[in-house]
Amino acid sequence: MDVCLAKCYRDLTEGVSDYKSDWHQFALSTTFGGVPSSRMVVLREFNSERRSIIFHTDARSEKVNALKETKCAELLFYSKAHKRQYRFKAVVHCHSGDRLASYAYQTLSEKQRALYANSLRPGTPVSPNTELTLDDPESNFLVVVCNYNALDYLDISEATPTRLCFSWDKSSVLKKITLTP
Ligand SMILES: Cc1cc2nc3c(=O)[nH]c(=O)nc-3n(C[C@H](O)[C@H](O)[C@H](O)COP(=O)(O)O)c2cc1C
Repeated sequence: MDVCLAKCYRDLTEGVSDYKSDWHQFALSTTFGGVPSSRMVVLREFNSERRSIIFHTDARSEKVNALKETKCAELLFYSKAHKRQYRFKAVVHCHSGDRLASYAYQTLSEKQRALYANSLRPGTPVSPNTELTLDDPESNFLVVVCNYNALDYLDISEATPTRLCFSWDKSSVLKKITLTP
């Protein structure tokens, strides 16, 4: 396997299990009606064979509208310690109320489940008088599976940066191109 790709896979595997790792969170970028939007999310699962990156979110959040509309996203990882950036282009699939979502929900702590219990959708304006009412958290819980088909790899740790473009075609055949940084 390519050394740089192996490094990336090792980093993301660490990011899933180590909450202190720089790779534990990434910026997710979407577009909706041509308007770009980015936000941080936590890396929950990574599988290099399936080329999948998974995060959890609230089914009622803005990003889910964008993901359902365009079915694609860009995922941006950067580690200041390692001076490496990974930029993935992915096709996304949203799962709620199915076996995958149910399985993932079972792995959540009570504290994590509570994040999905507010009856008001994320981003709702509130005032000091707004009463907090609780909802069934599982019904608001959503798993997003991002299947990447391209990776823009950038290492700026050396005097001459390394930039590589990895892409996979429909038959999962990998192509690697070296790019000017
Ligand atoms: C470090 C960090 C990690 C976050 N992780 C998540 C996450 O895993 N899932 C999520 O929905 N929001 C997460 N958030 C909050 C999002 O960045 C965002 O504010 C929220 O989901 C609303 O985004 P939206 O309005 O674009 O849907 C995280 C924020 C930070 C700063």
